[in-house]
Amino acid sequence: MKKKKIAIVATGGTIAGSGAAGKTTNYEAGTISVDEVLASIPDIRDRVEIVLDNLFSVDSNEIDDQRWLILAEHINKLADQQDIDGIVVTHGTDTMEETSYFLNLTVNTLKPVVLTGAMRPATATSADGPFNLYQAICLACHGESYNRGVLALFSNTIYSGRDIEKVNNFKIDAFDQRSLGCLGYMQDQEVYFYTQTSKIHTIKSRFNKRIDSIKSVAIAFYYSGADAKILYDLASDHEGIVIAGSGSGNYSQAWLKAIEELSEKGTIFVRSSRISQGIVFDDEIFDPHHLCISSNTLSPQKARVLLMLALTQTHDRDEIREIFLQY
Ligand code: SIN
Repeated sequence: MKKKKIAIVATGGTIAGSGAAGKTTNYEAGTISVDEVLASIPDIRDRVEIVLDNLFSVDSNEIDDQRWLILAEHINKLADQQDIDGIVVTHGTDTMEETSYFLNLTVNTLKPVVLTGAMRPATATSADGPFNLYQAICLACHGESYNRGVLALFSNTIYSGRDIEKVNNFKIDAFDQRSLGCLGYMQDQEVYFYTQTSKIHTIKSRFNKRIDSIKSVAIAFYYSGADAKILYDLASDHEGIVIAGSGSGNYSQAWLKAIEELSEKGTIFVRSSRISQGIVFDDEIFDPHHLCISSNTLSPQKARVLLMLALTQTHDRDEIREIFLQY
């Protein structure tokens, strides 16, 4: 049988990190080539044709909107090549959830696009990178991975790019998708899908045409007694603000007053929650004039990604509200 051809786009992260031999701490992310990680996967090049692009070599905290745009364009160009069957992106785990959602909204292909990474550097005893990369390559080769939106693979588990969140900053099994579950599992190279997202992605996304820049959106974290001045400061140089509210997206009366005044002047607000489980719906008490858009199941950092893209097309609150329901 003809070998599948997979493009690996390396961006850095712990999977390409190195430090003291055997140790899991005090290492530098994004310092070695993913070629070295590939070399530790037995026979992989005999089974799959691999083309490797070292696009960035950075800690994922250096991935910003400019790098998102470069990465999305790069993936779209690779996906346009007929002989490429799928794409794997190696990425730091810290901001993988934001990049995966951005790509889920901006990549225009049915072909599998799978993000993966590692919690332990390549030089650690029992590094997790080679196994995650191996499974990500197998997932990208798999026929059932087509048209599922951008995927992420970590520790035998298949996640959707929309919903994956980093939930543990210490353990190998560092990701989850709230109570929405995962899309499926892998055992070695075997792929088992169980569910799929009903939200719009990739080829049906209204954001999948070439974008030159995205809009500036900030996140304001609410805490007991938080001064509303932060909202006025942020509104001076951001078109949108995502509130990471308490409970179900809540805040004080002083914040409500600031939101009302700033909305009047054109700032677009999204209400999300600092709580990592649950959902934010519209609320008559905290938003009596329906000025805010509810983030639904999106975390503040994911809601920010969607608002940055939505604002490239519209400032109409009702249209953005609809986008938040659909995506
Ligand atoms: C990073 O996000 O680049 C560093 C942390 C990691 O990859 O686990």
